[in-house]
Amino acid sequence: MTKEEIIAHFDLKEHPEGGYYHEVYRSKDLIAQEALGQKFSGDRAYSTSIYFLLTSENFSAFHKVNQDESWHFYQGTEIELHMISPEGEHSKILIGHDYKNGQVPQFVVPGGYWFAAKVLQPNSFAFVGCGVAPGFDFDDFVLAKRGDLVKAFPNLKELIQEFTRA
Ligand code: GUN
Repeated sequence: MTKEEIIAHFDLKEHPEGGYYHEVYRSKDLIAQEALGQKFSGDRAYSTSIYFLLTSENFSAFHKVNQDESWHFYQGTEIELHMISPEGEHSKILIGHDYKNGQVPQFVVPGGYWFAAKVLQPNSFAFVGCGVAPGFDFDDFVLAKRGDLVKAFPNLKELIQEFTRA
């Protein structure tokens, strides 16, 4: 299927970070806010998962969530995922199907890390799944402001400029 066909078939919508997504699963049961602690502003589902499609014409901008987020590669070409730890350590990983060349089909981004991603091959896309527990809520989602992130991590200015829009 082409990316347009996948977007239509799974009813993917634009995500504020870039790319297209559709929530596939949200547990009916909730974890009470008192059990989650101060990081969470309310009750959350046990877990949620989405389809996520990123094209080479776009990128996923630096953002963070409280939870660890697991990525699973389904189809397309590899994604380069960049992370900045709370201490300012930069790391990257290739998520894809070329295992012999170091790509992995599953990767977990630690909660609280800033992360961003792009599709390296021109004229292509990657179709992946992303899951979090406790479940996703836009209240927990922080899209990085370029100026603030550069101020926090000045040595990563070029990387932050590439992966932020404003
Ligand atoms: N649901 C809506 N947006 C997201 C996201 O960025 N990650 C996950 N795991 N779920 C979402």
